[in-house]
Amino acid sequence: MDMLGGITPAEFLRDYWQKKPLVIRQAFPGFVSPVTADELAGLACEETVESRIVIESDAGKPWQVHNGPFSEERFSKLPEQDWTLLVQGLDHWVPEVADLLEHFRFVPNWRLDDIMASYAPKGGSVGPHYDQYDVFLLQAQGHRRWTFGGECGSESSRLEGTPLRILSDWQGEETVVLEPGDMLYLPPAIGHHGVAEDDCITLSVGFRAPTVDDLLTGFTDFLCNQPNAAEHMNDPDLAVQDNPGAIAPVVIDRLEALIQEKIGDRRNLSLWFGQFATAPKSVETVVPADEPAASEDLQAAIQAGEQVRWNEGSRFAFHELDNETALFVDGEQYLLRGDARPFAPLLCAGARVETQALAAFAEDEAILGLLTNLYNQGSIYFE
Ligand code: SIN
Ligand code: CO
Repeated sequence: MDMLGGITPAEFLRDYWQKKPLVIRQAFPGFVSPVTADELAGLACEETVESRIVIESDAGKPWQVHNGPFSEERFSKLPEQDWTLLVQGLDHWVPEVADLLEHFRFVPNWRLDDIMASYAPKGGSVGPHYDQYDVFLLQAQGHRRWTFGGECGSESSRLEGTPLRILSDWQGEETVVLEPGDMLYLPPAIGHHGVAEDDCITLSVGFRAPTVDDLLTGFTDFLCNQPNAAEHMNDPDLAVQDNPGAIAPVVIDRLEALIQEKIGDRRNLSLWFGQFATAPKSVETVVPADEPAASEDLQAAIQAGEQVRWNEGSRFAFHELDNETALFVDGEQYLLRGDARPFAPLLCAGARVETQALAAFAEDEAILGLLTNLYNQGSIYFE
């Protein structure tokens, strides 16, 4: 399979990633949608699934959005055409959709957000807009006409009267019609508008990157929860000043040194970031096993060659520190030392953990304990 249209992942990252759009004809040749429109509508009726319906002209108002869950009757009241159903996090609910992510592992796990599905009858779209994220738009069923191009930003003019960020006065630069198996990559900020030509399902493989605000608030919150955060600033070398109202330069020097010491702690930064970047999207994502397993049962299953698989929606990452490896799963951190260190890269390499190598690690009591813990909290399961 030639998912990137004849270029290697390294060439894609060098020339297109975060730089410019790429149309890939037959990225997934003969692709058959892993979900039907009816299944998407069914999911949109579930309490735990995030879904929206976007209607282009709704009682005279442009681009109105309705949030799920929906009742079955809601679907029978929709117009013939010009609307879209969006189902977020489809990979969390449908293992065949999660499997698609294995083709995108040339981008690190922590950058991945989720796969969103859209269903639209003829004319349906979510309007011309831009996103903050990188996205691969895989045509799963029917045909969609995409117009895209031009860098947009907060200064781009927006349509009034809709809660959605719809671009007005935007033309786009290129138009293509995608059929099943075709894919369009778009970097952040590129304007785009995809209109269904017929009954159409599109899967959006979306990536995310934290904002500076996320990083600063997240890391400083973490530092504030460290035991030494309750210590007070001190000044045993306080000197008499001319005016008691002055904040002396030496005070700012001390503050600067203190803040830099805390913020500049690279070990803390990596431990926080791993937890932050693997935190589950919602409480519904990681559900504890129905019956907690004993470590002996887990070991027997692993030795018998049963396939261990990540829970769809669980997040796995690791970071090599000087004398240990930090493993991060669903917002928790585990420090591995010595012979246990290579267990982290093995577990994080892809959704199906290599069976033979895992069997060897499962002979170690501490690793078996960790696997049992991950199984019982719902981060891994036997396929
Ligand atoms: C869609 O699939 O209809 C919209 C996806 C997007 O434009 O980001
Ligand atoms: Co978009």
